[in-house]
Amino acid sequence: MECSYYQMLLVIAAVILAVQGHSSATTKRFNFNVEWKSVTRLCHTKPVLTVNGKYPGPTIAVNEGDNVQVTVTNKVDTNTTIHWHGVRQLRTGWADGPAYITQCPIGKGKTYTYNFTVSGQRGTLWWHAHFSWQRASVYGAFVIHPRLPYPFPFEPSPVVEAPPIIFGEWWNADVDAVESEMSRYGGGPNSSDAYTINGLPGPLYPCSIKDTFIQNVERGKTYMLRIINAALNDELFFAVANHTLTVVEIDAVYTKPFTTSAIMITPGQTTTLLLTADKSTGAFIMAARPYLTSVFPFNNSTTIGYLKYTTTPKLKPQLTLPPNLPAMEDTLFATRFTDRLRSLASADYPCNVPKTIDKRVVTTISLNLQDCPQNKTCKGYLNKQFFASMNNQSFSRPSTSILQSHYLNINGQYTTNFPDHPPHVYNYTGVDSVSENMNTEFGTRVVQVEFGTRLEIVFQDTNLLNPENHPIHVHGHNFFIVGRGFGNFDAERDVVGYNVVDPPERNTVGVPVGGWAAIRINADNPGVWFIHCHLEEHTSWGLAMGFIVKSGKEPTQCLLPPPSDLPVC
Ligand SMILES: *[C@@H]1O[C@H](CO)[C@@H](O)[C@H](O)[C@H]1NC(C)=O
Ligand SMILES: *[C@@H]1O[C@H](CO)[C@@H](O)[C@H](O)[C@H]1NC(C)=O
Ligand SMILES: *[C@@H]1O[C@H](CO)[C@@H](O)[C@H](O)[C@H]1NC(C)=O
Ligand SMILES: *[C@@H]1O[C@H](CO)[C@@H](O)[C@H](O)[C@H]1NC(C)=O
Ligand SMILES: *[C@@H]1O[C@H](CO)[C@@H](O)[C@H](O)[C@H]1NC(C)=O
Ligand SMILES: *[C@@H]1O[C@H](CO)[C@@H](O)[C@H](O)[C@H]1NC(C)=O
Ligand SMILES: *[C@@H]1O[C@H](CO)[C@@H](O)[C@H](O)[C@H]1NC(C)=O
Ligand SMILES: *[C@@H]1O[C@H](CO)[C@@H](O)[C@H](O)[C@H]1NC(C)=O
Ligand SMILES: *[C@@H]1O[C@H](CO)[C@@H](O)[C@H](O)[C@H]1NC(C)=O
Repeated sequence: MECSYYQMLLVIAAVILAVQGHSSATTKRFNFNVEWKSVTRLCHTKPVLTVNGKYPGPTIAVNEGDNVQVTVTNKVDTNTTIHWHGVRQLRTGWADGPAYITQCPIGKGKTYTYNFTVSGQRGTLWWHAHFSWQRASVYGAFVIHPRLPYPFPFEPSPVVEAPPIIFGEWWNADVDAVESEMSRYGGGPNSSDAYTINGLPGPLYPCSIKDTFIQNVERGKTYMLRIINAALNDELFFAVANHTLTVVEIDAVYTKPFTTSAIMITPGQTTTLLLTADKSTGAFIMAARPYLTSVFPFNNSTTIGYLKYTTTPKLKPQLTLPPNLPAMEDTLFATRFTDRLRSLASADYPCNVPKTIDKRVVTTISLNLQDCPQNKTCKGYLNKQFFASMNNQSFSRPSTSILQSHYLNINGQYTTNFPDHPPHVYNYTGVDSVSENMNTEFGTRVVQVEFGTRLEIVFQDTNLLNPENHPIHVHGHNFFIVGRGFGNFDAERDVVGYNVVDPPERNTVGVPVGGWAAIRINADNPGVWFIHCHLEEHTSWGLAMGFIVKSGKEPTQCLLPPPSDLPVC
């Protein structure tokens, strides 16, 4: 009640400001029609779920400070929602998008306007469907240009802005069928048939020479490549033959620039790279393939495109993969690359990492096996069903949105007792992966904190079934990755080694395979947020938790009221 009173005052204040014309940011409006489109890849034609008939979907480009209004109209039979991945959604959790977390889905024939303001972020993010496995094809870039007069904090300037480079996965089969087969039998999903660059697999796949991404470049110019990993289930390595890449920004936060022969990028992560076209002529392979840490089936193929100098008369497709593309099991490369990421931490772009904390949550990340119900056929390991969990809690989807239940004080949809520590202490990364009890518990549990809490979360991978690199994504907040390591986290030993000066700030962290990652969050965004593994198969199995930040005392610390067109369940 207190909060709604203040909100009215705020609205009045905002109107006065607008009348006086002090606001320089503008409102940018977009229309997204979710519709089917027939697409052919690898000689297979199928209906693909798209936004505005585009695969991948349209790029949203805005300026820092803009109010963004995207009207989504659902023109298909299935439910849908759209998530603005990495956009902070300060006080506007209603516009975040994950189905049953912040909103009920947009039903057939229905419309919902996502209305939010982009502030304090600049660089490359993306958007994608957040319902079922729809993000297999419903995704696009979300580019935030810095507000003038801020120049880019890196050299050289100017740079040529190239079109975003989005990695994805293509299934010849209907993705919905892949997902429902997985949930029906409790097994692993069929792996995809191709990786793609901007929806194009490239010449290493059958029938795909015409479906190859080509980036034209002029000698001597420096290009800004906005890289997005939209793949459902695979971390990827990316390299360009004979060219180095300079990392300048991750997840819409500037980094200390550094040059590398290749990158590793997890699903959910974004990275802006500079590439200088320093050759005279030719067409050079740009290639992406999985970084493999799992024993589950995956597709070990490679998607390639070309960097083609304008001086090259005709593309002569090279097919030999460049030596700077890391091998699929190259954990050493992945680790060294990730270790080099550092916040810029300058006067203009400070690193606001909490130096001390109010609360620490340590959570395991596990895959699990449950017995097969008697009347069912299960295709998971040992003919059981796969699940996944955090602190042995496999997340069950509620039947209405948690944000709505929280805002209206409706009980029964979730509980605030997500465990602070693993319920059983064991040698998380040392146990035999299949001899342990691999059961889990089910529930819709959240961690709830007061506004302003400086929260640390340690994600601890486990050996149960299979240790693996897990890309954990936090909604509504960026976080600082203060520590990472292999083996078991040990507070006594590891906290002293934390980087609380210039740790990387992002929204998705790849928790090292058989290791741990510690993140710090300033819980300054009231609302209900989803924390989950961005490998879609793991989210389907329950590798997720809820995170509630209560409204604070000040008017600017309150969740705004729900929009009038919010979908209902
Ligand atoms: C969008 O949000 C702004 C600020 O909260 C509000 O003034 C405006 O009326 C909203 N517009 C729509 C179309 O919902
Ligand atoms: C998954 O793969 C199996 C084995 O190749 C095949 O029989 C099945 O039809 C596939 N399922 C889907 C949904 O494509
Ligand atoms: C990987 O992709 C290739 C090429 O599309 C396909 O032939 C193969 O079946 C896929 N492998 C798996 C394990 O799905
Ligand atoms: C590109 O790299 C390959 C392998 O390192 C090398 O053999 C080739 O000469 C290089 N080409 C150019 C144009 O630099
Ligand atoms: C990919 O997997 C296939 C089938 O398992 C195997 O024959 C091939 O050697 C693998 N390719 C690479 C590059 O590992
Ligand atoms: C299978 O068993 C479950 C729980 O015991 C029950 O709810 C379901 O109706 C059964 N399904 C069939 C097809 O018998
Ligand atoms: C945990 O297991 C690993 C691998 O077996 C072993 O090296 C380590 O000593 C174990 N740690 C403890 C505390 O037992
Ligand atoms: C997880 O929960 C299940 C079901 O209560 C239990 O059997 C199992 O021992 C628990 N495992 C761990 C590692 O806490
Ligand atoms: C769509 O969402 C509504 C609201 O949660 C639900 O009642 C309905 O069953 C869903 N429909 C489909 C096809 O999933």
